[in-house]
Amino acid sequence: MALLEVTDLDIRFTTNSGPVFAVRGVDFTLDRGETLAIVGESGSGKSQTVFAMMGLLAANGEAAGSVRFDGTEILNAPPKVINPIRANRMAIIFQDPMTSLNPYMRVSEQMAEVLQLHKGMSKRSAIAESVRMLDAVRIPDAQSRINLFPHEFSGGMRQRVMIAMALLCRPEVLIADEPTTALDVTVQAQIMRLLSELQSDFGMALILITHDLGVVAGAAERAMVMYGGQVMEKGPVDALFKNATHPYTRGLIGSIPRVDRNEDTLRSIPGNPPNMARLQQGCPFAPRCGFAGEDCLEHLDPLTEFQPGRLRACNRPIAEVTGSDAETKGDVPRGDAQ
Ligand SMILES: Nc1ncnc2c1ncn2[C@@H]1O[C@H](COP(=O)(O)OP(=O)(O)OP(=O)(O)O)[C@@H](O)[C@H]1O
Ligand SMILES: [Mg+2]
Repeated sequence: MALLEVTDLDIRFTTNSGPVFAVRGVDFTLDRGETLAIVGESGSGKSQTVFAMMGLLAANGEAAGSVRFDGTEILNAPPKVINPIRANRMAIIFQDPMTSLNPYMRVSEQMAEVLQLHKGMSKRSAIAESVRMLDAVRIPDAQSRINLFPHEFSGGMRQRVMIAMALLCRPEVLIADEPTTALDVTVQAQIMRLLSELQSDFGMALILITHDLGVVAGAAERAMVMYGGQVMEKGPVDALFKNATHPYTRGLIGSIPRVDRNEDTLRSIPGNPPNMARLQQGCPFAPRCGFAGEDCLEHLDPLTEFQPGRLRACNRPIAEVTGSDAETKGDVPRGDAQ
């Protein structure tokens, strides 16, 4: 049995201008110790997917479907079911470091509080354990720096503090929501390396959320590519990089900056992400897709397994989408939108 099983997850927000269908029909599993990347542009539903799993949707949000953690249903579960899991077994590093760090409290107090509350530790042993955790995320001189306030750390070090906080209760699943977005490239690489080292030291599963497919290479075994709140393609990361079968995934790969390419030739996918307040019946990517036909505007093909472990939601023949020309030159299909 997978550690985490998400089935047919729908998320809907009620707003003054009507319902927003943020996530539709998302399915995935996560095994113990595994890394799954959730990839997609801004607004594709990545964060809301994991917020729903952890019972953290905004008050105007509603989730339907099923999320099973180690066999227990946790979607919309009562506090007595979800709280112990959320505190001890599943942790999240938020997109914005200041969402989880209190600017007015010393790091020592914030960290110790978590352990006192959830593990019933004394203040003294909670501080000692917190220092150990700051050491584990390679914060130099943790013993004295634990007494600083969050703003006294650099961006990269603050991200390490966040990771240490999330690891305090030794979760089985760590969710990292865009853990490196605000950091410069060198620090990004250090944090990614740290996360994968910690993952094997702690033996935990990792859900890595990013809009940058470049971050995923080497960091995750499987990736799930989302667009407009739905899953477009899913499979092993190596296979996605070598031969993505969905026009959207190919577009994302084409927009990864590469050292062997001139900046001028950097591509981005033409057009804009869809308006989630309008429920389209067709493929959400169709208006921007260079391969789309009339039928794509009418219905989205269900995710279909076309090779063991590889799924795509696209009715265009794979050979057409990955045509040898496009494949060898890494060209990105261009839509009419723009
Ligand atoms: N409280 C809310 N009320 C209405 N709509 C919301 C609410 N929260 C999120 N949404 C909408 O849900 C959709 C998905 O948002 P989500 O935060 O999951 O995007 P994301 O993929 O994480 O993007 P980003 O990369 O920008 O973080 C967006 O269209 C967003 O506007
Ligand atoms: Mg997000």
